[in-house]
Amino acid sequence: MNATLPNWDTLKFAYTKTDCVFSCEGSIDADPIWGEGHYLPFENVQISPAATVLSYGLSVFEGLKAERTEDGRILVFRVDRNAWRFGHSANQLAMPPFPEQRFIEAALEIVLRNERFVPPAGKGTLYLRPILFADEPQLGLRTARRYRVLIYACPVGGYFSAGDKGLRLRVLEQGRVAPGGTGNAKAAGNYAGSLNRRQSWHAQGYDDVLFLDAHEVRFVTETTGSNVFARLKDGTIVTPPLDDQILPGITRESVIRIAREVLGFKVEERPLSIDEVISDAAEVFCTGTAWTVRSVGEIQRREASHAFEKPKAAPVLLEALRGIQSGKRPDPFGWTRAVSG
Ligand code: COI
Repeated sequence: MNATLPNWDTLKFAYTKTDCVFSCEGSIDADPIWGEGHYLPFENVQISPAATVLSYGLSVFEGLKAERTEDGRILVFRVDRNAWRFGHSANQLAMPPFPEQRFIEAALEIVLRNERFVPPAGKGTLYLRPILFADEPQLGLRTARRYRVLIYACPVGGYFSAGDKGLRLRVLEQGRVAPGGTGNAKAAGNYAGSLNRRQSWHAQGYDDVLFLDAHEVRFVTETTGSNVFARLKDGTIVTPPLDDQILPGITRESVIRIAREVLGFKVEERPLSIDEVISDAAEVFCTGTAWTVRSVGEIQRREASHAFEKPKAAPVLLEALRGIQSGKRPDPFGWTRAVSG
């Protein structure tokens, strides 16, 4: 064990070296495809310069969190849904899915083996990052025969340095992903493609990019790393429906159920145009594992800036979601799993 514990009071959403990584090799020529897997010390992995992932981006990933409760238990949130989506994303990129049950077992074991990195209650969470990629060396563009799954963990705090301040988003009149492409998979390339604009707008004081749909370029889709919701002036909460440009966000799905079934909001999953957001939304918020539920304070579109009033739905949704994740509230949906050695 040579990894150092971070300062729990200054945690950010950032990489920290931890103790243990799960690593599993797969070959489509083997039966079963996936080997037994190993729990290894957190060290660099060896990869061929010709590994398919490096040239052609054959990689999908996940993000999920474990959290210490006030009475000292450790809860993992909706690991079964991440297991499902990991397989769904792999299929979208013609890679062999990792069995869901094995994903769940490995994720829980990684939490246990990195238990000393689970922050004290209220100080942060342990974020798990499962990755599946093609490590076969090859030059031509083809599906690969050899793959690897890695799962590592990092203790994290909030995603944004500005605390709870409403986000400043700027609308990009462009899609995040191509129609019919990999937008509903958690494919590494979707994120890579969003960075150029995010970086230049960040330098101008915007927190993130709000993308429109790639077909008609008028419906809201996602930011670089979150789903998007609006609460309209009549109280209805609207979020874009799942399609080929929207990631099936696990926080998105959780927020919809909490809003409907716990808090009694009317929630519609339907196309939401940027014009409707500007003219009819009382509030806009973003959801994601890393982002949690984040209010938007301002949207810049073309030359005009639109400010939103004090958010009403996002804070109660955040409180209810975080309550379930941290064990402070009852979990009526059975979403959390306690990890024990
Ligand atoms: C997550 O929310 O877990 C993600 O994977 C998004 C990423 C931009 C941090």
